[in-house]
Amino acid sequence: MKRLLITGGAGFIGANFTQFWLRRQPADQLVVLDALTYAGNMASLLPVLDDPRLTFVHGDICDRELVERLLRDHRIDTVVHFAAESHVDRSILGPDAFVRTNVLGTQTLLEAARASWPRDAAGEAAEGYRFHHVSSDEVFGSLAADAPPSTEADPYAPNSPYSASKAGSDHLVRAYEHTYGLPATISNCSNNFGPYQFPEKLIPLMLVQAFAGKPLPVYGDGRHSRDWVSVGDHCLGIALVLEKGRTGEMYNIGGENEWANLELVGLLCRLLDEEFASEPELGDRFPDAPPVNNRQTAELITFVDDRPGHDRRYALDISKARSELGYEPERSFEVSLRHTVRWYLENQSWWGPVLDGSYREWMEEQYGLEYSEPVAGETGKLR
Ligand code: NAD
Ligand code: TYD
Repeated sequence: MKRLLITGGAGFIGANFTQFWLRRQPADQLVVLDALTYAGNMASLLPVLDDPRLTFVHGDICDRELVERLLRDHRIDTVVHFAAESHVDRSILGPDAFVRTNVLGTQTLLEAARASWPRDAAGEAAEGYRFHHVSSDEVFGSLAADAPPSTEADPYAPNSPYSASKAGSDHLVRAYEHTYGLPATISNCSNNFGPYQFPEKLIPLMLVQAFAGKPLPVYGDGRHSRDWVSVGDHCLGIALVLEKGRTGEMYNIGGENEWANLELVGLLCRLLDEEFASEPELGDRFPDAPPVNNRQTAELITFVDDRPGHDRRYALDISKARSELGYEPERSFEVSLRHTVRWYLENQSWWGPVLDGSYREWMEEQYGLEYSEPVAGETGKLR
């Protein structure tokens, strides 16, 4: 039986992972630590909030005393660290919060684990402890169109304040493992999609815009490409790293599934047209969606100014995770994407309050929890 501290467990991937882990490892005990910034939402944990194996703690990973207390009182042996500021556009508008949470917050967690976890007689880390840090493909920087996908051995070349802060945190994890023998692993994952993703990231933003018949903003020429992996496959990859990964190692987790943004948005539009055609009742809930008005969703695509410093291409080589861990992206892209489209069509009760901000009041009423101060750079990004 393991005792996990999951940081950022009320965010997109953390909430998916928390639900996934409770199904995968029924005997384990979980503590979720989340500051409930704009991106944290208790509603993403609703299916498991009453589970006696789960404890939710509203707090900041930069609070060393709190983190040490949690490690000690809950006898945590495994940290799975998701908490971060995660949106590139916000990092361009306000980098401070990114350095604070992603760099200093990670170092606080590392220091707390170093101070709290036992050593054996030889001074080595005791068996059964693990600090797993969740990172991104963006730390490798932009790839040329004909370059091979990034491997774990490639040098870091982060280009945005977001990716620079993630790279900084990765380096600290590596250094704590190397210098202090903290039993740590890192996974670098490509772009995720799936349920509970805040509608500022490409896929959910395009969906909620399309439902309302609003423009679908494509940056620059739309030829930038990303590797997409379903959040379920990412959770599986992390589980395999925890179960079979070697400490001190990095593992790439991706989908081997590269799409130019414009093509991906085009595919989403086609999927939406099909969903509305097969279920005309959707028109009652989304009267402004183009298919309800005999138009194609793709007519909403609008080219807008490019993101400053926009990386052209990310792609990951996943051979190491495949050969060492038996990782394989399990889900077909189109099936997972359709599932995601269905989830957003059916879960307006989740994203509606996120869009109008009322989920904060709901959380306060239900749980007496207040949201943290909005991060610098929070704007009217939800066009
Ligand atoms: P998210 O923005 O949806 O969630 C982040 C969560 O962290 C939120 O619940 C937020 O309240 C919490 N948080 C922020 N600052 C905190 C602090 N100081 N203390 C405690 N909690 C805090 O992010 P996500 O998309 O779920 O990403 C999770 C992790 O995965 C991040 O580390 C991110 O860099 C990494 N990642 C994301 C992707 C992706 O496509 N989304 C891809 C690769 C890696
Ligand atoms: P995003 O979801 O922000 O993830 P990341 O920048 O971390 O890869 O964006 C994915 C891609 O989509 C990226 O190339 C930027 C582009 N994009 C748009 O074209 N329009 C948008 O409104 C957003 C949010 C992103």
